Amino acid sequence: MKLDKIVVASGNKGKIKEIQQIFTDAEIVPMRELGFDGDIEETGETFSENAIIKAKFISEKFNLPVLADDSGLCVYALNGAPGIRSARFSGEGESANRKLLLKKLEGSKDRGAHFTSAVCLYFPDGNYILGEGKTYGKILTEEVGENGFGYDSLFYSDDLKKSFGQSTDEEKNSVSHRYRALCDLRNKL
Ligand code: IMP
Repeated sequence: MKLDKIVVASGNKGKIKEIQQIFTDAEIVPMRELGFDGDIEETGETFSENAIIKAKFISEKFNLPVLADDSGLCVYALNGAPGIRSARFSGEGESANRKLLLKKLEGSKDRGAHFTSAVCLYFPDGNYILGEGKTYGKILTEEVGENGFGYDSLFYSDDLKKSFGQSTDEEKNSVSHRYRALCDLRNKL
């Protein structure tokens, strides 16, 4: 299936750039350009449910195909936490989230973790396609590198053999959970 125009249910410029790099033939339109810049409540219990909720909301509002993603960090020693609550882990923003993660893993030998991304392309007729991607690594004992956002400086990538915080956008995007989820979705179109 070829799509001419895809609205993205996100205001994040990095995400929009990644999506454009994968869907090179389509015009990618951030939802802000359609006049919507609000938050959409993520009430799902899984990454996929939240991606569907966001894409459906904007698709029904504008009657267009809409792409949304939901992502987070799953740490094995914490039974998968912070998971879908990654953005709200500490309740005090990304820097406090990183500090809390380090505290919770203090003394832990098991540092294994992965990022997950679920993406949903939702059509105005109610049909949708899902994609999922993961990227694997370890949680460092201190922040390394200044690039990226969220937990990037604490995540040592098994693929890149350095932290996401030390990686360029191009390096990270070539192995990222979001890139893999978008490729998965594109292959299903
Ligand atoms: P959202 O899917 O944009 O709501 O992201 C959820 C949260 O997961 C973010 O606020 C970050 O804390 C974390 N997260 C998701 N993807 C990444 C990433 O690529 N690097 C670092 N943190 C991420």
